Parts: sequence; structure tokens; C-alpha cells
Amino acid sequence: MKRKKIIKLLNRQYYSSISCLTSYSSSITSILDGNIDVILIGDSLGSTLYGFKNTRKVTLDMMKSHGHAVTKKIKSSLSIIDMPYKTYENKRQALNNVNSLLKATKADLVKLEITKTKLPIIKYLSEKKINLVAHIGVTPQSYENFGDIRAVGKTKEEQEKLHKLALDAELAGAKAVLLECVSESCAKKITNSLKIPTIGIGASKYCDGQVLVFDDLIKLNSNKAPKFVKVYADLFTVSQKIVKKFNKEVKAGIFPSKENTYK
Ligand code: KIV
Repeated sequence: MKRKKIIKLLNRQYYSSISCLTSYSSSITSILDGNIDVILIGDSLGSTLYGFKNTRKVTLDMMKSHGHAVTKKIKSSLSIIDMPYKTYENKRQALNNVNSLLKATKADLVKLEITKTKLPIIKYLSEKKINLVAHIGVTPQSYENFGDIRAVGKTKEEQEKLHKLALDAELAGAKAVLLECVSESCAKKITNSLKIPTIGIGASKYCDGQVLVFDDLIKLNSNKAPKFVKVYADLFTVSQKIVKKFNKEVKAGIFPSKENTYK
């Protein structure tokens, strides 16, 4: 059943536009599941959830534990899980780690951040029947400091390089390509040349799908959101108001009331 769903979702004949949001927990998954096509257990949990300054400290065990919490709650959406930094440096290490991540989480697809040096790993894992998403463009694991991140694919040279990488990833067996912070013209060129779908984050409307970090969408922190994020609700401000009200009520003896008390 799930296999059929993957084929259907990733085949241009069947889908309109793929929607994808991140989740790292059971509670957020219960909000997303069935309301979105794909749930991404992203290693962005390092910065978003753990407050790390980049994603490099995220471990395979962290991905297993958050991935398990998410996938056990999913009834209908598809799931993609990230391989963390330095866990897919060579074919053997990649296969061992992907297999143990999939054993722990049973996610539908696995996402790897790649440059051309990682293409043999994509080919090797695809031959082992692993459903892969190749993440290209801005690859956050390459950044020590997220402040240095700039959109790519603006020059002719960069466009050609990214275009070739996307085509080679498809040829190597990737089931989808994720484009992060890529210029509109470059995303359009890549999407038009591939048979597999592109999913974009900060990569314009010229992608087959769109992904955002859920915490950004509902503004769960005080950080300034990047240009490509649309903030649908400011839950940071709402939550702060609620917390202040709770604080006042506790101090004033209003909470707990009779309704919140066992007799
Ligand atoms: O880790 C993540 O959440 C991601 C998205 C930013 C696409 O890779």
C-alpha cells in the first residue's frame, strides 16, 4: 500500500503539487498527518529543537528517536527522514546507517545532502532499493554558521553545475530532488528537465512541491524568518500571552479552580 502511494506521489502523471512540512514529534505529527502529503523528519531539529547553531551535532540516535516518534503516529502521509552529518561518507557506512535508521523508523524515503562526490553513494543505495531524496543547492550540513547561507544558482556557471547535479542524481536513482535556496530560473530549468519531482524550499514556485519547517510556518520562536518563509500564524506571541496569563492566575489563586480539582 505504502509502495503504491510512493509511486503515485512521486509520479508526475498523478500528483498536482506536493506539500511537505517538518515534524520531529508525535504531537506535531498528529496535526500534520493526513493534511499534508509528506512529513519530513529533518535534521533541522538540531537548530530548531535543540538550539544548536547548525545541524552538525545531530546524531543518528537523535534521528532514530525523533523519527520513531513521528512515524508511529503517521496513518496516511508519506515520510522522509534525513541522514545526519557525516553518517554517509562512504558506501558501506551509508548503507549500514541507512538500514539502521530505516529499521528504527520505517520511514518511506531517506534524504541525503549531496554534491557530485556523493553521487556514487546515491547510486549504490538506490541499487539496494532504498528510496532516496537528493538534497541539493544550499546544503545546510556544509555550513558551520547558518548566517553565511546565500541563495545559489544565480550565475550561469552555478546554474549549469546544479542542473547537471540534479540530472546525475536522477540517473543515479534518486526518487526526488530537494532544492534549497535556489534561484527561480535555475529551479525552473531543473524542474523542466527532470522526470522525478523537485521539492523546493526557497526555490520558487517552479518546483513540483514545497516544503517548510513547521515551526517557521507558525512562528514558534523569536528568530527572524528567512525571506522564503510564509508565517501563517504568530504562535510565539500568542503562547507568550498565555504563559503570562497562567503566571498571573497562579499568583492570584485563580488557577486551579474547582473544575481543575479532584474531590
Ligand atoms: O532538515 C530539514 O528540515 C530540511 C528542510 C530545510 C528541507 O532539510
